[in-house]
Amino acid sequence: MRKKRSGWVTAVFGGQFGDEGKGKIVDYLSQKADIVVRYNGGDNAGHSVSNQFGDFKISTMPTGTVSGVTGQVQVIGNGTVLNIISLTKELQYLEDKGIDLSNIRLYIDKASHLIMPWHIAHDKLEEERRKKHSNIVGTTQRGIGPAYADKYQRVGFRTGDLLNYEDFAWDFTKTYYYKAKLFRGLYETEYAAKGPNVELQELKAALDYLASKFGNLDNLICDTPPILWRAIDKGQNILLEGAQGALLDIDRGTYPYVTSSATGIAGASQGSGIPAADITERIMVVKAYMSRVGNGPFPTRASLYDEEKLREAGQEYGTVTGRPRNCGWFDAISFKYAAQLNKPTGIAVTRLDILDEFIIIGIREREEGIDHAYGWGLEKRVRGLRNWNLLPDRAKDLCNRIVGNYRLKYVSTGPSRDETIVAPKNRK
Ligand code: IMO
Ligand code: MG
Repeated sequence: MRKKRSGWVTAVFGGQFGDEGKGKIVDYLSQKADIVVRYNGGDNAGHSVSNQFGDFKISTMPTGTVSGVTGQVQVIGNGTVLNIISLTKELQYLEDKGIDLSNIRLYIDKASHLIMPWHIAHDKLEEERRKKHSNIVGTTQRGIGPAYADKYQRVGFRTGDLLNYEDFAWDFTKTYYYKAKLFRGLYETEYAAKGPNVELQELKAALDYLASKFGNLDNLICDTPPILWRAIDKGQNILLEGAQGALLDIDRGTYPYVTSSATGIAGASQGSGIPAADITERIMVVKAYMSRVGNGPFPTRASLYDEEKLREAGQEYGTVTGRPRNCGWFDAISFKYAAQLNKPTGIAVTRLDILDEFIIIGIREREEGIDHAYGWGLEKRVRGLRNWNLLPDRAKDLCNRIVGNYRLKYVSTGPSRDETIVAPKNRK
């Protein structure tokens, strides 16, 4: 009997406050993937990819969409919340960037939840209300929290509901007036001005667009776990793509300054339908420094001068909202916590090249605070280096200090796919 080829299932997730460079690492690993699955979040994510096919910013589609791998399957998993209007816009954007959608094999899990127009309105209204109490979360205002809230209240719309459009339209209209009443009572605002028909038409247009691009909706919107289970049986390679990061996790992050989904390894299983035991590799992505967009604690935030410098060198502005990100130094304390929660089999350290601009950098390894007496120096730059042995000793030392007892797997020295170092196992 021929031995079955054994494939891998690798989850890639953030170890910080999001924006760790997951898109770049997913793109790198997607070159050998048969399937790429997005398992949590929605269009609050902003994943940047730079490869031979172009520079892309992706929020809703799995990053594999731009991998260029023929026949690769893209899955939007059940753990996500989906705004089909922004999905449509993203597909048009990708098409404008030269991606041939007829080559994209997309499946959307029918149990993923829809982000509806009232979720976006609610997200904004709730942030306005919180502003008065100075405890604004600083969300991306994409309706993420309210969409997940409705999911857990068991009153949400699932993507699969779209397949029975007449029932969907009826429920949509009922819910529209229900939400309008709610908003009137709670926020004294008139939500129903547009009327349900206009909003429904927009959704229908998005749906028609999806059908025109991907054919039969019953095929596009389906039960995706069996596709993944079969692939695992066949020994195919599956990449699970996380959004946000460990410190934004709904349970273990800096609540209430978090997003509304499980961002790590548990979310990868729950949000895709792949049994936890089948996830063989767990790659946690961390930047060599840190950033945080939105509100909430940030213990390693840098001095004004350094923050500005990090922000400019790293172009740390929100991919989704354009907001300037707060910037600071690597926090080894929260790293240990994120690693404890997710037990990564490998760490990807990204954006090492941004530190090229600095003479002195900081790192927090003790509760007491940031250690600044770290001689960095400018004479040898890491940007674009592709071999571990070429890194200056200081950079090697920093990587080793970042990962501690965990296994360093990848070091990113620039935004593009090939500016990547695969760290040797027995490195010095
Ligand atoms: P990627 O996948 C960084 C932050 C928001 C806000 C909080 C809640 O690119 O790493 P939400 O809209 O999710 O309710 O906002 O979470 N946030 C992110 N920060 N990267 C992201 O995604 C983020 N997605 C949400 O700024 O503080
Ligand atoms: Mg991002």
